[in-house]
Amino acid sequence: MVDRPGRVEGKVIVVAGAGSVGPGWSNGRAAATLYAREGATLYLIDIDPDSLAETKRLVVEAGAACHTEIGDLTDSHTVRDLLADCVTRFGRLDVMHNNVGGSAPGGVAEMPEDLWDRQIEFNLKTVYLGCHHAIPHMRETGGGAIVNLASVAGYRHIGTPINAYAAAKAGVVQLSRAIGVQYAKEKIRCNTVVPGLMHTPLVEARLTKQRGNNDAEALIARRHAQVPMGHMGDAWDIAYAALFLASDEAKYVTATEIVVDGGLVMSAPI
Ligand SMILES: NC(=O)c1ccc[n+]([C@@H]2O[C@H](COP(=O)([O-])OP(=O)(O)OC[C@H]3O[C@@H](n4cnc5c(N)ncnc54)[C@H](O)[C@@H]3O)[C@@H](O)[C@H]2O)c1
Repeated sequence: MVDRPGRVEGKVIVVAGAGSVGPGWSNGRAAATLYAREGATLYLIDIDPDSLAETKRLVVEAGAACHTEIGDLTDSHTVRDLLADCVTRFGRLDVMHNNVGGSAPGGVAEMPEDLWDRQIEFNLKTVYLGCHHAIPHMRETGGGAIVNLASVAGYRHIGTPINAYAAAKAGVVQLSRAIGVQYAKEKIRCNTVVPGLMHTPLVEARLTKQRGNNDAEALIARRHAQVPMGHMGDAWDIAYAALFLASDEAKYVTATEIVVDGGLVMSAPI
């Protein structure tokens, strides 16, 4: 085996939403673990202590220095204070990985206003807050990279009514492009990973109830069948795209997206 430096060796990376909605490999957990395997120091934040502790266990097992904090990433003061704490502990903040998000079912006619507001806050405002509070720290050290999580639902209708989520994720894509352009001269890159249908714990933990009539097997078969490759992706597919965007391999890549979807958005009809 070739001995080489890690792909994010020496970088301090914040993963916002590093736990998992259920047992197994969520996108946030896989990304944190991959960053750890590739030489980063991790500062992990989540609202759920148990799932965050499990991610920390995996990150430490991978050999990385790691600090965890419980916090609500929809709260501006919390995000501000935690990112400042990261810099106090580790001296810098090189990569901000904004992973928090998730869909609530409904078209606009059915969706109550408070649920609309919460969806936008959960999926779009969390990204704004992560960027808003991370960029000043990145400036201090002459640059950085932001990796945001969107969804193919932000590009096109994916066969299920999740209107607020679709709008918020489209917002994440365009916000990230705008940030990438705006801060390019300051060497702060901003890109988005756009997952398609992934088989992460949320399929069994949440989607089966929300849109699968409590029949996980049928929902999984339907999701596999929707994808040109014939199967859903997994959290590692997302993590490897994020790793590239976070690393210096992507030093000339900003204001764009990597779509990780097995060909889904380019296919028709769904
Ligand atoms: N899995 C898929 O099929 C899929 C598809 C498209 C996009 N995505 C996107 O991927 C991202 C998440 O993927 P995941 O697999 O890690 O999901 P996940 O739901 O397993 O993990 C999200 C984590 O965020 C935490 N969290 C939720 N609200 C929070 C808050 N207010 N403050 C702090 N932490 C909070 C949860 O506790 C959880 O640990 C989301 O942005 C989602 O929209 C996933």
